[in-house]
Amino acid sequence: MSDINWYPGHMNKAKIQIQERLKLVDVVLEIRDARLPDSSRNPVLDQIIQDKKRIIVLNKADLADPRETKEWIKYSKQQGNFSLALDSQHNSKLTDIVTAVNTVMKPKVDKMKSAGVKNYTIRAMCIGIPNVGKSTILNKLAGKTVAVTGNKPGVTKNQNWIKTKYSIELLDTPGVLWPKISDHIVGLKLALSGAIKDSILNKEDIATYALDFFSVYYQKSLFKTYHLTQDDLELTDDQLLLQVSQNLGYKDDYERASERIINDVRNSILGRYTLDRIENMNE
Ligand code: G4P
Repeated sequence: MSDINWYPGHMNKAKIQIQERLKLVDVVLEIRDARLPDSSRNPVLDQIIQDKKRIIVLNKADLADPRETKEWIKYSKQQGNFSLALDSQHNSKLTDIVTAVNTVMKPKVDKMKSAGVKNYTIRAMCIGIPNVGKSTILNKLAGKTVAVTGNKPGVTKNQNWIKTKYSIELLDTPGVLWPKISDHIVGLKLALSGAIKDSILNKEDIATYALDFFSVYYQKSLFKTYHLTQDDLELTDDQLLLQVSQNLGYKDDYERASERIINDVRNSILGRYTLDRIENMNE
């Protein structure tokens, strides 16, 4: 699903399609990347979701800094949102999502019960930017691999419902939103974490950003991975990248060093990390 080339026409079509589908569901599972709780959201959802119930799922929590994830969940609650951390790749049951859906929907289910509907089936859909784990979550909730249909702009199709063993049904077409790249730093974060794969951004810029970020927030693992010392932090960005390149045995091959740094971060060689810091939220 990450191969969609978004341009304004596509964006509008996707927005309209999501709006149409929202009418069919009781609750939205907004999937975000736990390493980028802010940069992996698109504010367009806030505009179109209106009063629909929403659960924010910080997926890939196994890759994120657990302390930051906790803070993000706290922050989310303060904002009046229901949110939870999830590792959908290694967690086979996703019972936390089921519990959350049941909690959020309890008033409606109770209302239906008193109106005589005994087994109300809650209808839900996943929404999020590409690569955050929407298909993984749908498959896990379905308990099998289902043909998750991509949000191909311009293609209208019938809606199919995926049954789960809980009293929840899921729309087989997740709502794919494009990431909102509000500034250069957001682009660098999305590229570094692999949320945007074939980035149009310069690899050296991404690697330089990574060195800078890890030197502030995860210095120990940066030093250990690339054999750096405190003195190296006095270097300019270019000099630091060269130093890492030399320490890796790549001499002055900046491109090779940059690729290595990006892959190391994406593959969690430097450990778990969260690029969106809660402390910067009110800046
Ligand atoms: P999407 O539908 O939102 O586009 O995402 P999808 O489920 O296809 O997941 C994208 C990648 O993220 C997949 O890796 C998937 O296995 C991985 N993923 C999903 N949830 C989690 C999670 O909770 N933790 C971790 N660590 N990974 C998760 P992939 O198929 O190997 O593709 P890729 O890694 O080459 O992108």
